[in-house]
Amino acid sequence: MEQKIALLAGDGIGPEIIREAVKVMDAVGAKFGHRFTYEKGLVGAAAIDATGDPYPEATHRICQEAGIVLFGAIGDPKYDNDPSAKVRPEQGLLRMRKSLGLFANIRPLVMFDALADRSPLKREIVQGADFVCIRELTGGMYFGRPQGRSEDGNTAYDTCVYTREEVERILHLAFKQAQTRRKKLTVVDKANVIATSRLWRQIAQELAPAYPDVTLEHMFVDNAAMQLIQWPTRFDVIVTENLFGDILTDEASVISGSLGMLPSASVGAEVALFEPIHGSYPQAAGKNIANPMATILSAAMLLEHIGLRQEGAAVRSAIDEAVRSGIVTEDIAEKGVQTYTTSQVGDYVAAFIRG
Ligand code: IPM
Ligand code: MG
Repeated sequence: MEQKIALLAGDGIGPEIIREAVKVMDAVGAKFGHRFTYEKGLVGAAAIDATGDPYPEATHRICQEAGIVLFGAIGDPKYDNDPSAKVRPEQGLLRMRKSLGLFANIRPLVMFDALADRSPLKREIVQGADFVCIRELTGGMYFGRPQGRSEDGNTAYDTCVYTREEVERILHLAFKQAQTRRKKLTVVDKANVIATSRLWRQIAQELAPAYPDVTLEHMFVDNAAMQLIQWPTRFDVIVTENLFGDILTDEASVISGSLGMLPSASVGAEVALFEPIHGSYPQAAGKNIANPMATILSAAMLLEHIGLRQEGAAVRSAIDEAVRSGIVTEDIAEKGVQTYTTSQVGDYVAAFIRG
């Protein structure tokens, strides 16, 4: 098949990890007879530097036309400690999610057995962990208005808003996801305190009868944060609102041994976007040391999304093999053994796929 893909490398290590994912996509193309063509777009700090806008209209058009986006990372420390900065790279990411209608962020966590000893948690706890966190991505406190400061600057406010429509569509997606897995859905909220959480809980209960094969449970977010690291194997599908999902998925990444292993897909109406869950890791930018596996696994999710299951599986096997053989970057390498660079890992995975 032929598929156009929008490539948004972004900031920090973004360009390096995207380069490796493209290498792997091209290997898949060569092996299975597909043609992937790429259209590059600017986003984040890189886009601010070039155009003054972290998500330029031209980039939006590229994403819409391709329908499939492979995304690196966003963020530059030069903006982090400047509360007066008018434009921030992250605004580009939020605008992109909103304007492309990417309301569901799917973050699967699969434990690589060979990495169970890299996790800061005990092997007995993490072994066999296999769950997916579905994070609502275009609502809640990230987008609620009003947001800002009082005139004297001494009071700040955010607003958390969810409509029935927003909650229903993400919950339907989560129930369906659970049906394809172990049929257990955990809705994470703070319904003992927060009004939007109570709406989530109510709607989850209303929808449950339509999915009789799925066991629904509710869990407060503080409890979920604890259970995730105490008993991660108890989870199958977790669904939660934007901010809770942001926090819980960074926490969950620890289970797998490295933030550098976790891919994600953001889906919605038409466009789908694939990105590693880690950020731009500016300290590593340009050093060829960042772990490209989260981005390569995001490419595997991309392939599966466009119906290329066998191709996605080939990428996953290649990653498995690299992990098993220790062809890995320093973040997941055993102490004292040789480590590999970003591009060496990409080369290995691509070569393995070509066979
Ligand atoms: C993520 C990131 C973003 C978020 C930041 C960079 C705005 O942490 O994708 O999880 O908070 O959504
Ligand atoms: Mg985050």
